[in-house]
Amino acid sequence: MKISYLLAILPLVSAYPGHGTGSTVSAHWKPAGSNDFRGPCPMMNTLANHGFLPHDGKNITRETLVKGLHDALNFNASLSSLMFDMGVVANPETNATYFTLDQLNRHNVLEHDASLSRADDFFGSNHIFNETVFDESRAYWTAETLTPAMLANSKIARQINSKAFNPQYKFTSKTEQFSLGEIAAPIIAFGNSTSGEVNRTLVEYFFMNERLPIELGWKKSEDGIALDDILRVTQMISKAASLITPSALSKNHVRMEL
Ligand SMILES: *[C@@H]1O[C@H](CO)[C@@H](O)[C@H](O)[C@H]1NC(C)=O
Ligand SMILES: *[C@@H]1O[C@H](CO)[C@@H](O)[C@H](O)[C@H]1NC(C)=O
Ligand SMILES: *[C@@H]1O[C@H](CO)[C@@H](O)[C@H](O)[C@H]1NC(C)=O
Ligand SMILES: *[C@@H]1O[C@H](CO)[C@@H](O)[C@H](O)[C@H]1NC(C)=O
Ligand SMILES: *[C@@H]1O[C@H](CO)[C@@H](O)[C@H](O)[C@H]1NC(C)=O
Ligand SMILES: *[C@@H]1O[C@H](CO)[C@@H](O)[C@H](O)[C@H]1NC(C)=O
Repeated sequence: MKISYLLAILPLVSAYPGHGTGSTVSAHWKPAGSNDFRGPCPMMNTLANHGFLPHDGKNITRETLVKGLHDALNFNASLSSLMFDMGVVANPETNATYFTLDQLNRHNVLEHDASLSRADDFFGSNHIFNETVFDESRAYWTAETLTPAMLANSKIARQINSKAFNPQYKFTSKTEQFSLGEIAAPIIAFGNSTSGEVNRTLVEYFFMNERLPIELGWKKSEDGIALDDILRVTQMISKAASLITPSALSKNHVRMEL
């Protein structure tokens, strides 16, 4: 189901603490301390760093997530609630009502191989930002304005690298949906979800600092983000990930089809 794309977005989505302006908000940014939980999802970590989610990374309830995603990124409440249902499976307790950021680290529950900025579980930490891996991904970000094709290329490249060198490489069709959502996330949060384009500087700043690019001039969406936006952008990435180019429509070709 297309809806499972949302699983992928969850890591990217979250919440703001107040109704402050951009500059007030950025002043709240503080990296994780040694007792704070963080996970594999750069956006969830970012929102916790800003205090839009609990700074300690614990007790992320439906209420917290809905408020956080609304305040930070102007996400629609029913969308965020749906995302909570998908994310709470990270908590192994039955009928859990919350999850913690470190629970997202459980390999092959939501966390998966071949992500853009984390090593595969087989090779090292599956949840701490890994510069080697990120450099591998951004080698495909070949212009100042990223397109769905560039982001899709980095996704495919990471999968090929993992498939070739990680003997435990696992990437199911569910992982694919989750992965598409993750790739779409920077476009949805920082770019234009109609054109599918996003400023590379903002995306790199976000991944490398786990901080919203407020000081670079970014502002949250005024129109709000709903399920439709997410489905549209994940679909763009999915199409852009095809390795087959459209057939040339020559006169001969048309004649043959007739
Ligand atoms: C968890 O957060 C909820 C609000 O979403 C709050 O009611 C509850 O007391 C918190 N639990 C703990 C253990 O902090
Ligand atoms: C959220 O989106 C749904 C449809 O996806 C819509 O029915 C609802 O009114 C929206 N909520 C808000 C607060 O905009
Ligand atoms: C979990 O929720 C279901 C449905 O509400 C209920 O039937 C079940 O007893 C609950 N399990 C536990 C361990 O609370
Ligand atoms: C970073 O990723 C590389 C490539 O997978 C791996 O060799 C290295 O051990 C990772 N570093 C950490 C700290 O996990
Ligand atoms: C987003 O992209 C669309 C389609 O290319 C364009 O019409 C629109 O002006 C862009 N929006 C912004 C805010 O740049
Ligand atoms: C991207 O954002 C940076 C930082 O705000 C800005 O300096 C740069 O001009 C932007 N690039 C494009 C292509 O808009």
